[in-house]
Amino acid sequence: MRTEEPRAVRLQDYAPPAFLIDEVTLEVELDPAATRVHARLKMRRNPDSKTPKAPLVLDGQKLVLHEVRIDGETLSANAYQADGEHLTIHEAPDAFTLETVTTCGPEANTALTGLYLSNGIYCTQCEAQGFRRITYYLDRPDVMAVFRTRIVADEKALPVLLSNGNLVKSGRLKGGKHFAEWHDPFPKPAYLFALVAGDLGHVEDKFVTASGREVTLRIFVERGNEDRCAYAMEALKRAMRWDEEVFGREYDLDIFMIVAVSAFNMGAMENKGLNIFNDKYVLARPDTATDADYAAIEAIIAHEYFHNWTGNRITCRDWFQLCLKEGLTVFRDQEFTSDMRSRPVKRIADVRLLRSHQFPEDQGPLAHPVRPESYIEINNFYTATVYEKGAELCRMIHTLAGPKRFRKGMDVYFERHDGHAATVEDFLDAISDGAGLDLAQFRRWYSQSGTPEVLVTGRYDAARETYTLKMTQVCAATPGQAIKDAYHIPIAVGLVGPDGKDMPLQLEGEEKPGGRTRVLSLTERTQSFRFRNVTEKPVPSLLRGFTAPVTLTANLKERDWVFLMAHDSDPFNRWEAAQRYSSGLLISMVEAVRTGGRRRRGVAFAEMVSNVLADKKIDPDFAAQMITLPGEQTIAQLIGKDVDVDAIHEAREALRASVAEEARDALTRAYERLRIDGPYSPEAAHAGRRALRNACLSYLAVAPGGDGVTLAARHFSEAGNMTNQIAGLTVLASIDCRERVEALDRFYGQWKGDHLVMDKWLAIQAMSSLPGTLGEVQRLLEHPAFTIRNPNKVRALIGNFATANQLRFHAADGAGYALVADKVLELDPLNPQVAARLLGAFKSWRQLEAGRRKLMSRQLQRIAGTEGISRDVFEIATKTLA
Ligand code: PHE
Ligand code: ZN
Repeated sequence: MRTEEPRAVRLQDYAPPAFLIDEVTLEVELDPAATRVHARLKMRRNPDSKTPKAPLVLDGQKLVLHEVRIDGETLSANAYQADGEHLTIHEAPDAFTLETVTTCGPEANTALTGLYLSNGIYCTQCEAQGFRRITYYLDRPDVMAVFRTRIVADEKALPVLLSNGNLVKSGRLKGGKHFAEWHDPFPKPAYLFALVAGDLGHVEDKFVTASGREVTLRIFVERGNEDRCAYAMEALKRAMRWDEEVFGREYDLDIFMIVAVSAFNMGAMENKGLNIFNDKYVLARPDTATDADYAAIEAIIAHEYFHNWTGNRITCRDWFQLCLKEGLTVFRDQEFTSDMRSRPVKRIADVRLLRSHQFPEDQGPLAHPVRPESYIEINNFYTATVYEKGAELCRMIHTLAGPKRFRKGMDVYFERHDGHAATVEDFLDAISDGAGLDLAQFRRWYSQSGTPEVLVTGRYDAARETYTLKMTQVCAATPGQAIKDAYHIPIAVGLVGPDGKDMPLQLEGEEKPGGRTRVLSLTERTQSFRFRNVTEKPVPSLLRGFTAPVTLTANLKERDWVFLMAHDSDPFNRWEAAQRYSSGLLISMVEAVRTGGRRRRGVAFAEMVSNVLADKKIDPDFAAQMITLPGEQTIAQLIGKDVDVDAIHEAREALRASVAEEARDALTRAYERLRIDGPYSPEAAHAGRRALRNACLSYLAVAPGGDGVTLAARHFSEAGNMTNQIAGLTVLASIDCRERVEALDRFYGQWKGDHLVMDKWLAIQAMSSLPGTLGEVQRLLEHPAFTIRNPNKVRALIGNFATANQLRFHAADGAGYALVADKVLELDPLNPQVAARLLGAFKSWRQLEAGRRKLMSRQLQRIAGTEGISRDVFEIATKTLA
């Protein structure tokens, strides 16, 4: 165990800073071993501070301190004190300039936070607390300053020097050096600081804002990748236009820059005017990127751009308010994607993500409110709850207010808080005032953790012609929260008549019907809603569009789901009905596998598949969602306890094969019909056809008595783009055959020089359902295509094995657990953030059957008991075990 227990930081202890920083001037002389940083901070005591005599305490980590001056006077050694975390100046005047000279070591920085080297490129990552690894500072988001940054570097090796804001000066210096000076006029917290230096290529474009200002757009990449930036650039321009049209928000500097780097802990970072991206979310060419990659690039480019208003112009008061910028910005990027592509398909994708990542988090040992109340390591709180559930909370407000009033609320929010560090309360008050919406009860969503369950009973009274929905909400206990108050839950409902059409909806007390989908507000623990003039018995369509992040149980029978999956006018619920039907079926099949009972064949699902494939009017992208069975992890989650991963795999494979057999003709016809001849285009219409065709392929490949292997091998070798190549290879990777080995080798030979494509090669092998996968992962860990120092490689190989290969990670002998635990411990001293994230794979250990539960907890204990582990890993390990 660690000798010193790390201390938790608590929201209730928030206090305004004792000092403020108005202006920062940084001079950075780049050097791989010792980069020299000369910082001048114009500071004053904070009039709002509750401690007017407090000493000045600056944050700083892994810094070598060379000098401290106040107003030009060097401080004597007893006037200050520096330890591994802080620089304390015992007596500070009311207003002064603090100068420090420090050095840091970018080359040795494997944690990838602060200043580090990514494949020869100097770059920074300062969120959440990386700036303190660059210089001594008040590293907290409520300290906002205007930055001026001068970078000095070798001219030959590092010709491009970038920082936030506008370039004000650049030139040559003696000794082969040069410099650039940047000035960012917008006061910002240190976490939005960025600096980049390297031998970079770039592409350039421009954007004219709604008010007619011209903005230069530049995307910087490692030389040779310039031909992979076009899609990101177009996506950026679409995002800029969209934010003007939908939220009335314009860009505010003369230049907007994006830099793509290959070593990055997360997806991307919204530094003011200088976004830094994981290159996976910038670089795309039809032969190297899949449709899914293109979609992710569009969404993340937009997400980071949207932060300019929700995050940068209005930032967070403290890190507990993280959802203020992240939940809201995810909601904004989801809306953007919905407008650019298919809204129903985007909703389905988002709900899939919520259910697969956020629900397990909210129902497990790491559950925390969307606004957490304490943390040991803030980096552990960039979670699905803060991001995805945070976005759902914004979506619910949007649903309750309607788009027009929501926009009014957002206008008030921007007007009131522009240039400030705000809280969740500020946001809710602004929306509430602007939209004229009472959010008093709604606020509980931010402080209560756990996924509420809504139980619905529908009852038809033929004599009175009424239909009554009785709803009850409950929320199970979560860590630190035994009892929950009732939530305000918006639930959109429709009533589907026997003819498959929506009935007009008239609630008791209303004069006339008002629409065919109504949003009901469930605010009590139990509440009834009665509809009048219901002339025939309907089937209720509940939680249309998934208007709230809850689990819903209704008194519906299998035949009702079959009916809804054919008729529901709400596309989300039509898909949902197919998922409900097929997961019910799968759960009964899992039972049959375990007890040797009779296995069902899913005839109704196969019929639906045939009908959907024959329907020429249906959007192919949506059809692909309709025909895809719930994943093994989804079934495990629904079963919830004593999970038997082998039985789940066997049941799902059996159902897949029987659907393929029953619907073979329709699948074959669709597979032929959906082929696209001509050049690749990433646009949604083409991507949708490929998605459906590839979904057909994955069925046909397992159709009994067919030649699936030949089909998949042909699909792979004839593919004219990465999407189809990957689709073929994915199918082959889980079939033990000669074609599998050949295709993997060919793919490697073709793409071994391309690090991003190699990540796909690693991932596909890590996700294979074949019994030898663990051994292959072990071999690949030693392969030149892998290095533990690159987070994308870690996620591709180890991350996918641990989180996307339920069957093999949970092997009964515990070898999968041991392997991942070993890697967590190996990675922790190098990169604790990524190590802690990997350890998240252990969070559902209590749901497994007894043997695996024991094996998993043993690994968790081994990790928690290891001397010297990071705060990041310590927090996840101990909370998971608690
Ligand atoms: N703020 C980034 C985003 O969501 C995520 C991030 C967090 C990146 C921490 C790096 C470090 O857009
Ligand atoms: Zn974000």
